[in-house]
Amino acid sequence: MTRGLLISFEGPDGAGKTSVLNALVPRLADLCSDGLTVTREPGGVAISEKIRELILDVEHTAMDDKTELLLYIAARRQHLVEKVLPAIGKGELVLMDRFIDSSVAYQGYGRGLGVDGVRWLNNFTTDGLVPDLTLYFDVPSELGLARIEQNSDREVNRLDLERLDMHQRVRAGYQAIAKQEKRIVTIDASQPLPEVIEETYLHIKELLER
Ligand code: TMP
Repeated sequence: MTRGLLISFEGPDGAGKTSVLNALVPRLADLCSDGLTVTREPGGVAISEKIRELILDVEHTAMDDKTELLLYIAARRQHLVEKVLPAIGKGELVLMDRFIDSSVAYQGYGRGLGVDGVRWLNNFTTDGLVPDLTLYFDVPSELGLARIEQNSDREVNRLDLERLDMHQRVRAGYQAIAKQEKRIVTIDASQPLPEVIEETYLHIKELLER
């Protein structure tokens, strides 16, 4: 049996990556004869969803930045072991709404904890697993935040409530990572949603055909 593929969806809050992912699932399911797993971070399995609640609770304003990082890392490890690695092992295509680059962008750049330590922790957590493809949905921070405000269906979490400058550091972080890593493809997420969906689909199809 051949190993499956792992694709991560990344971007600042309000980039629209979750909407793109949901729109693509039916079309991608048709392309994946060995199965498709769609999951998210933090979360994806019961223990990690509990950690998600803890991290994103708007009441938890006292949370230390390193505590936050370590909780994301703990959620990642459990999710990987319980769900992601078994699916890859079965030959499935795994689509992950956020993964290692979120820690580097949000905690490394956004919180200012530094990139080296966060990368080391990620590597320790994933035993060196990196995605086969990462789609980075780039959007100006002002537009991302305006979308969050307009979208009344979306949960408002503790990180959404951060000031504009934190969101701008996160975006700059993502842009820096995207320049360094060949696996990352940048998609202009300020375009209308149907165009973003189509562009994303073509990148995934190309990987599957390779
Ligand atoms: P979501 O809204 O995309 O589900 O993500 C929840 C929030 O968690 C979002 O603001 C990004 C943040 N996050 C981090 O800060 N570090 C991480 O490692 C991950 C996975 C998410």
